[in-house]
Amino acid sequence: MRGTHGWAEVSRERKREIIDAIVANTPTTGPVHAELDLTDRCNVACYFCNQQDLRTKEQIPIQKTTELIDELASTGLRSVRLSGGGDPLFHREINDVLAHLAKRSIVVDNVTTNGVALSREIAEYLVANKAREVIFSLNAVDAADYARMMKVKPALFDKVITAIKTLVEVRGDSIYPSIVTQFLLDRSNVTRMVEMYDLARSLGVDRIAMNAVLEIPRERIDRELLLRPEDAALAEPYVEEVMRRDSDVGLLQIDFAVYGWNTMMTAVRERVGVVQTNMYPVAPSFRDRNDGCFFAWYTAAVTGNGDIRPCCLLLNPDVPPLGNINDKSISEHWRGEAFQKMRDEMREVLLRGGKVEYDPKRFQILKEVCVKPGLCWLKNMYFKVDEEFYAELDAKLEAVRKKEVRWIGTPKQIKRRGDVFLYDHPKVKEFVSGERWRRTYDWLRDSSRPLRVALKKTLRINLTDAA
Ligand SMILES: C[S@@+](CC[C@H](N)C(=O)[O-])C[C@H]1O[C@@H](n2cnc3c(N)ncnc32)[C@H](O)[C@@H]1O
Ligand code: SF4
Ligand code: SF4
Repeated sequence: MRGTHGWAEVSRERKREIIDAIVANTPTTGPVHAELDLTDRCNVACYFCNQQDLRTKEQIPIQKTTELIDELASTGLRSVRLSGGGDPLFHREINDVLAHLAKRSIVVDNVTTNGVALSREIAEYLVANKAREVIFSLNAVDAADYARMMKVKPALFDKVITAIKTLVEVRGDSIYPSIVTQFLLDRSNVTRMVEMYDLARSLGVDRIAMNAVLEIPRERIDRELLLRPEDAALAEPYVEEVMRRDSDVGLLQIDFAVYGWNTMMTAVRERVGVVQTNMYPVAPSFRDRNDGCFFAWYTAAVTGNGDIRPCCLLLNPDVPPLGNINDKSISEHWRGEAFQKMRDEMREVLLRGGKVEYDPKRFQILKEVCVKPGLCWLKNMYFKVDEEFYAELDAKLEAVRKKEVRWIGTPKQIKRRGDVFLYDHPKVKEFVSGERWRRTYDWLRDSSRPLRVALKKTLRINLTDAA
């Protein structure tokens, strides 16, 4: 069993509710899944932490947390991810939070933690309540590298190793939770991949993830530490050796989002004779035109200071939150203006089958990562396997596209059709976005305005939005 961003807990009825709400452009009853980043506090200080510019000293107090869980449960919440801008297990009353989730039968789909505060008691809870997945962000291979990366005393490394061993031991033969050890690679430790792999194998975990340290908002990371395209040659023999060692078990999940490294990885896979494992399957009914994000009907993230955000990828100091649970209830936010705006924007992308250019003037909530194809891995990676869901979504979206994306219709409908056309015909787009065309278009618009207004007033023919 592994985490599914909550999808495994969603009933057919709730999936249908999501599809129908996308079609009708209305809110669903409430989020089915939530990321609860209950504390912004952390017990280590990783140099690469992508949350460092959002970090406050706040956590959602236990009273408020239980109210939040109760409210979300009453509108159909089924699962949570516990992660954070701090460390989820560093919440002062984490045991009470976990107990309350269990009381409300909310599944813990994923815990992403540095593991420092994972006690035997917490391990027992996670196993007894069938948490689906625990990711240990161990990151480093030994105490010295741990101290370098996490900016703490080296001794904490052993503490985390003990925590991983404890969870493996308490879990015993159960399949819950799936235990993942994640390492982060930079130019200082990239040559130690094999040691990392061996360490994780010796711990008895289910998955060994190796990722690159990536640049963070506001570019705080020392460039000298970030892996570069030309480092692929340096990494290649180590990648090859971990792939060989893993070839009989398939525990490795290796994904370096570094430009140019894919070619090297593919070549090594061919040499070693392994296929890419631990990837996410895609159902035959999935179509690229339905690749758009539907998180605004499905999930939300709440952080330690009460801010609400669409997802963990938009936990970014330069992206404003959708609201705050201390102002009004999460249900009010879910039905409120910002969420509806996000739904409008997501629906526009879905209606156009993803064929829309990102323009910050046009998208107030969504960012480029949400609109430009291929940039966001989170939006449906876990869901693409769902044959029934994507078949139904496709049928209903195609029906609504016929009505709402067309050449003859309201200005909005024509605009959508025009967007799709221009996306498919870049040469035409280049021409119409030229200065001469723009001037001709403006002249036509201005000189035909009296006629359009007259038609609208006398015959009620609404050719454009002219008033
Ligand atoms: C922000 S942390 C929060 C949860 C918890 N404190 C932890 O470290 O697991 C979530 C995940 O993002 C990863 N992460 C943070 N900064 C990163 C970066 N610059 N590049 C790649 N992964 C990063 C962490 O290793 C961790 O697995
Ligand atoms: S443990 Fe997680 S939240 Fe804490 S500093 Fe490291 S990456 Fe950031
Ligand atoms: S597209 Fe990706 S980044 Fe944007 S809201 Fe959806 S999951 Fe988050």
